[in-house]
Amino acid sequence: MRFTPYLVLAPTAAVAFAQLFDPLHRTASDIQQQPQSQSVNHAQIPLAKPAGELGPAMPPSGAPQADGPANAGGGSSVMLSDVMGRDKSINLFAGFLRSIESPSQRLDDPARNTTVLAPLNSAIESLPRKPWEDPRDYSALGANAYEGEDGQGRAQRNLRRFVEAHLIPTSPWPAGEKIKPVGGDTEVWWEEKDGVKRIQPGDIEVLSVGSSVVNGEVWILNGVRNAS
Ligand SMILES: *[C@@H]1O[C@H](CO)[C@@H](O)[C@H](O)[C@H]1NC(C)=O
Repeated sequence: MRFTPYLVLAPTAAVAFAQLFDPLHRTASDIQQQPQSQSVNHAQIPLAKPAGELGPAMPPSGAPQADGPANAGGGSSVMLSDVMGRDKSINLFAGFLRSIESPSQRLDDPARNTTVLAPLNSAIESLPRKPWEDPRDYSALGANAYEGEDGQGRAQRNLRRFVEAHLIPTSPWPAGEKIKPVGGDTEVWWEEKDGVKRIQPGDIEVLSVGSSVVNGEVWILNGVRNAS
């Protein structure tokens, strides 16, 4: 499996995170009742699977079926929510996004433009801790900070903060325009040096503009923003 860092979790946490990353928001008992599901067995969480399954041919759950002519080839009704799953290099971030309701709705809304700053899977995997972990929780609550219902809620809030620190509530986003992300109070802007866009603060390189659709753009980053 490619996502080893996410597979080593205690069984309780495994249930919690199987729910966190389950796009259908099934309950833990629903998951356990499904013999085919690998979600909780052996504490192995197919975190990559939901995102991986949603390839280009399949819109995220809740999105309109993309079988009309308008949706067939980048037509005017294609939303960010439709294209987030297309690029496998950012499918960890896309999975996080899908697991949280309000940002998902935002990307499905034609009236609200967003520049999505999507870190590469490799950037997320090389973080010293998981995006839902906060050292402050560990110092306040100890090693079980993400156990149980409270712990799951805590992890979900942290993950939401991480995701929302990567959503810029405007598109097009002009160079140098300082703006607060959807979540967080620190202003963000970008500048171009030697033909490379860099997100500031943090000097995070924008590798490419992945998709450009009716309600915004997906920019692929080689690093993550500091969400705390
Ligand atoms: C939203 O994005 C679209 C596509 O880039 C653009 O045509 C439109 O002007 C943007 N709307 C606003 C309010 O920025």
